[in-house]
Amino acid sequence: MKSREVTVGLDVGTTKVSVVVAEVGETGELSVLGIGDRPCEGLERGMVVNLEATTSAVAEAIRAAEQMAGIQIKSVLCGIAGEHVASRPSTGVIGVARKDKEITEDDLRRVLEAARTVAIPGDQQMLHCLPRGFVVDGQKGIRDPLGMTGIRLEALVQIVTVHSTAVQNLLRAVTRAGIGVDALVLEPLASARAVLGEDEMDLGVLLLDIGGGTTDVLVYEAGAVTHAAVLGYGGRTVTNDLAIGLRTPVEQAERLKVQYGSAIASKVPLDASLEVPGVGGREPRLVSAQVMAGIVEDRMEEILKLALKEVERAVNPSILGAGVVLTGGTASLRGMCDLAERVLGLPARVGIPEGLNGVSDLASEPRFASAVGLVRYAAAEGRTRRVGSKLFDRMPRPFRDWFRDNF
Ligand SMILES: Nc1ncnc2c1ncn2[C@@H]1O[C@H](COP(=O)(O)OP(=O)(O)OP(=O)(O)O)[C@@H](O)[C@H]1O
Ligand SMILES: [Mg+2]
Repeated sequence: MKSREVTVGLDVGTTKVSVVVAEVGETGELSVLGIGDRPCEGLERGMVVNLEATTSAVAEAIRAAEQMAGIQIKSVLCGIAGEHVASRPSTGVIGVARKDKEITEDDLRRVLEAARTVAIPGDQQMLHCLPRGFVVDGQKGIRDPLGMTGIRLEALVQIVTVHSTAVQNLLRAVTRAGIGVDALVLEPLASARAVLGEDEMDLGVLLLDIGGGTTDVLVYEAGAVTHAAVLGYGGRTVTNDLAIGLRTPVEQAERLKVQYGSAIASKVPLDASLEVPGVGGREPRLVSAQVMAGIVEDRMEEILKLALKEVERAVNPSILGAGVVLTGGTASLRGMCDLAERVLGLPARVGIPEGLNGVSDLASEPRFASAVGLVRYAAAEGRTRRVGSKLFDRMPRPFRDWFRDNF
């Protein structure tokens, strides 16, 4: 059997762990070979708070993906989020080295190195240093200065930092499941690869990945990331509000939200009502569907307003020509686009991972944006692994474990 180049993305989210295994074809196209998707109770607001629960969800999701893909997963590209994510611009300046003043790769490396040399608080670490643009002898807005002529080269970058403890806990949870981590990637940066078009990034776009415990904010201007932040609220916050407001268990509130929830209360018929189970064995009650939608709308409006404030710290949203793209599980909530358009004042669409082959239909939901984006990210960075050439690699895990233990 021919060997294959594969990449694996691992999204450890607040409500679920998902794994996507994809094969990279000869022309770079991606085919999904397997998916693993398991509920996870080990995180709060995007951060690991229970190692054991997280490790077992990771192990189960990896196993499911291995079984579907028929390969052994040794390492992954892993997403990271949480309120501890911070981002800020930085600049670096160098003199061009060559006598003829042609800008070389070495100059680029040096100027980016200069831009990333910033003081970072001791409890944080750098996750990404994303180029925003270059200035050559005062000429701004240059995307690729390689080969140009100049004396002074300036780089503008966006630095993304994360809390070291959050990183360590995430890495520990994954490595305890027997999986190596090739690199960590900011979750919305991965999601962007799955759901944004290059034209949107060029025109300026806001990506909101609204998950269970977090809302990830990412701003692109002229093809580059100019702001990144993570808010500690998401769909779970809405579910908790419903549980309290409707006096029903959290699981029931979650079910009612997914089945009947809407982010625009005025669009729900006045006479529609729902049977809501009571807590502690109390009789179910009939509740107006509009009352329920009102609770959902209030909280989602608040989360979107927080996201808007975050965006406004970096940019005037009106210049984002491609509007806002909503993804993550909560983007599937009825009426989300309408509400986002109203609160943010930007045209909105839902971002669904697309453009993959194989069993990609299984991952064609907004909640898989991060995991799919991670395999795209890995493929683009050349972080692939050759598998399938050895019989051992293709064995189902129970056989492999048995072989490993007995030979
Ligand atoms: N059809 C739907 N309608 C409303 N909400 C939905 C729907 N489907 C999923 N959700 C919500 O999406 C959330 C989960 O989204 P997602 O899987 O993107 O989160 P996560 O990645 O686990 O968490 P996070 O990214 O915040 O750490 C849950 O709160 C769930 O209720
Ligand atoms: Mg998520």
